[in-house]
Formats: sequence, structure tokens, C-alpha cells
Amino acid sequence: MTLVGTNDKTLASPLGDVLEIRGGRPLRGQVDVKGAKNLATKAMVASLLGSTPSTLRDVPEIRDVEVVRSLLEVHGVTVSEGDEAGSLLLDPSGAESAGFEEIDAHAGSSRIPILFCGPLLHLLGQAFIPDLGGCRIGDRPIDFHLEALRNFGATVDKEPNGIRLSAPEGLHGANIELPYPSVGATEQVLLTAVRAKGVTELRNAAIEPEIMDLIGVLQKMGAIISYEPNRVIFIEGVDQLHGYDHRSLFDRNEAASWACAALATDGEIFVKGARQYEMLTFLNVFRKVGGSFDITDEGITFRRAATPLKPVMVETDVHPGFMTDWQQPLIVALTQSTGTSIVHETVYENRLGFTEALNKMGADIVVHAQGLDGEYRRVARRELEQAAVITGPTPLRGADIVVPDLRGGYAYVIAALAAEGTSRVSNVGIIRRGYEKFFDKLTALGADFDIVG
Ligand code: EPZ
Repeated sequence: MTLVGTNDKTLASPLGDVLEIRGGRPLRGQVDVKGAKNLATKAMVASLLGSTPSTLRDVPEIRDVEVVRSLLEVHGVTVSEGDEAGSLLLDPSGAESAGFEEIDAHAGSSRIPILFCGPLLHLLGQAFIPDLGGCRIGDRPIDFHLEALRNFGATVDKEPNGIRLSAPEGLHGANIELPYPSVGATEQVLLTAVRAKGVTELRNAAIEPEIMDLIGVLQKMGAIISYEPNRVIFIEGVDQLHGYDHRSLFDRNEAASWACAALATDGEIFVKGARQYEMLTFLNVFRKVGGSFDITDEGITFRRAATPLKPVMVETDVHPGFMTDWQQPLIVALTQSTGTSIVHETVYENRLGFTEALNKMGADIVVHAQGLDGEYRRVARRELEQAAVITGPTPLRGADIVVPDLRGGYAYVIAALAAEGTSRVSNVGIIRRGYEKFFDKLTALGADFDIVG
């Protein structure tokens, strides 16, 4: 049995479920996409900033939400079921410091704990953040975050297993320019500036839809935030914020993943809750590859319109560009396009490693360390895996696969569903970190699989 997908043997030991997938069947049916993993988790952290309880709606039932819930609870926040299905009531009135052991035990493999810094410094004057987890798609530094927190007046000390911060005199407004429009660093500044004394100016900010939705949450709490053209955001600090009542925007990553599954398996999937505006760039590429879609107020139906699929050249970018999280499922579909496609990954330095497993399933993908534009780099880095050249169509055949990360893992499942023959996909627990009711949705779409471990 050949294990493909990663050379990291620790991943070969199943962290979660093992699926046996019998491929070659089109996926047809409906999936309901709930709130965005990468907004809901941040909005939960924002509840710490309020003096009264908050209600968050359309919260996805995923592990990343559970990690944030338990981190909030170890800090004394009461988290309970809200007044409708899929909602949470977050009451920060009992917020208090937490011990390192408790924090570390609950931080899990998420990157969200770094966003607790600002709210905890405002609340308690100090914070300890354990070393971060998250998908291994690059070295995922947090230098922009720490630099920003120092600009707000916090002292930041790196300790062996985390970061200790303090701000006994409180935090003041800052002038910050990000070297790169980092989503996390932008959220760090927003969650810190809203209660800092004075005005904060943030330049070269990320403006992803999830960022704008977080700004909406903070404005509901009483924050004063404005944004200007060319990525400039102004935040006027206020003394007090109250709770919010907010329905998270839909998860456009999950929606795009199911769309690519329809393309790759020649199926038809109605993604309830998907909205056109936040997926404009994805929809253009989807159409160019040979997909078609129907948009209604309730959601978007995705299907393959052209056979064979067509090749495209895509470069990932910050919003409003083609999102880096969308490239893995797209690459699986591009293995079925007639001709040569190129996907240029410009956001992360190691997000094309998952293609090795696709080649062992029969794909023809070459990854080049240089991007298409030679030496130019958005964020200066060392080793880069920058451009995947995909030549198709190549029939995929079943294989034994170990899931490497969230989006790559989902891409493997699409490949197994599109392949002829049977695949064993292990370490599927990682996928269920970010895709709610994953097995139920596969079943609803007619996928032929068993949970075997
Ligand atoms: C968020 O990660 C998302 N995660 C990612 O989704 C998403 O791919 C990414 O934004 C880009 O859209 C969450 O929201 C939890 P970044 P984040 O800071 O905030 C470099 C998924 O599958 N950088 O925008 O960590 C960094 O190394 C995940 O849901 C620094 O150099 O991404 C990367 O190359 C995967 N220093 C680039 O910036 C810093 O201090 C973009 O990272 C911070 C980032």
C-alpha cells in the first residue's frame, strides 16, 4: 500500500477518520453552507471586548469554533446555545486571567489564539499566547502582529512556549503600515485599536469580505471604523463597547470547494447560502474552466458545462484577487482540463506540496520554485514553491492518501471522488476542522464511501 500526500510520517498516524472512497460518480444534490470559519472564530474573540453579552448566528459546527469556545471559557467567558439553531450566546462578564497550562491545553492546532492579545490586554492588562498551530502551508510568522502590538504600547516577550504581553498603562492609538495585506495582522489591529486611546491609522490593510464582516461586528459593538480607497483603515478608539447580534457571512471557501467538486466529478451541486458578490473572482475562473452556474437569492448551483474542461492561468492574490484557499480544489479540476494550466501561488510559500499526491493518482503537475515573474516577491522569503503547471486531461486512479492540511485535504477527497477505483484517505480529522457536517454532505451528494477508521 503506497501512502501518498506527505513525507511527514507523524501525519501518517491517523488523527481522525479514515475514509474508503469509491470514485467515478458525479456528485449531485444540495449542501447548506453556514457561517465562514474565518469570520465566526474572530467574531467570537471580539465578544471579549464587549461589556454585555453577544449573539453570533450561523456558527459552523467545526473544530476551530470549539477551540475558540474553550479558549474563551478558560478565560471566564460563558458560552451557551443562543436563541436559534446554530447561534451562540457569549457572555464576557466573568472574564478573567487563565493559567498557561489551561490555555496551552485548549489552543489546539489553531492560529486564532494570537487574536486574543488585544482584547485580553484591554480587559486584564496582560496576556499569554501559546505557540500557534494551523495548516503547514508555510512558516506562518507573526512578526506583523507583534510589531503592531508594540506600536499600541504593549510589551511583548517571546517565551519558550509562547508570548507574554503586558500593558499596565493601557494601549494607545498607533500608525501602522503592514508590509503585506495580512488578514490576521489586520484583524489583530482592528481588535486592539477599537478600545485603544486615540486614533489608529492602518495602511496596506487586508480587505477580504471576512475583514469587512468583522468591521461590521465591531461597529455594532460601538466601534468607530472607516476605510478609504487603497487599503487604509481608520479606527477611533472608544472607552466602552457593548455586545453584538450578528449573522456570520457565508463560508466562500467551502462554497468554492463544492463548486470544484462539481467540476471535477461532472456533477451538479446547489450550494445554499452562497452569494455572488463575495465570489465574483472565483465565478469568473469557474466559467473560464468550463463550468456554469445559476445564481438565486437562496444560493448558487454549480455544474460542468463544457467537456472537456479548458486550461486557465490563475494567480492567487489578496482580495479582490483569486483567493489562495481556492487554488487547491481548482487544481484538482484542472487535471481534467485539455491543455496546460498554470496556478501561481503568491500568498504562501509552501501551498503546492499537496500536488505530489495528485501525481501519484495519475495527474501531471510540475511545481516550479520560481514564480512566473522571476525574482519579484510580495513577501520576501527564502524557499518558495510558487507555480504549478498542470497538463491534462489525465484520468485519476484511486490511491492511499494522507491528508496534509485543511484545503489540501479537501482537494484530495475531490480527487478520490473523481478517480476511477478506490482510495483510502486518512487523517480526515483535519478536514472536519473547517468543513461542517462533512460526511453528511458527501452522503447527501451521493458520494460512495465508508468510514473505515
Ligand atoms: C488567514 O490566514 C486565513 N486563516 C487563511 O485561511 C487564508 O489563507 C489567509 O488568511 C489568506 O487569506 C484564518 O483566517 C484563520 P495572512 P492568516 O496573515 O491570517 C505572511 C484556511 O484554510 N505573514 O493573510 O494567517 C504569511 O506568512 C486558512 O482557512 C507574515 O509574513 O494569513 C503569508 O505568507 C489557510 N507575517 C501571508 O503573510 C505575519 O505576521 C498572508 O498571511 C503575518 C502573515
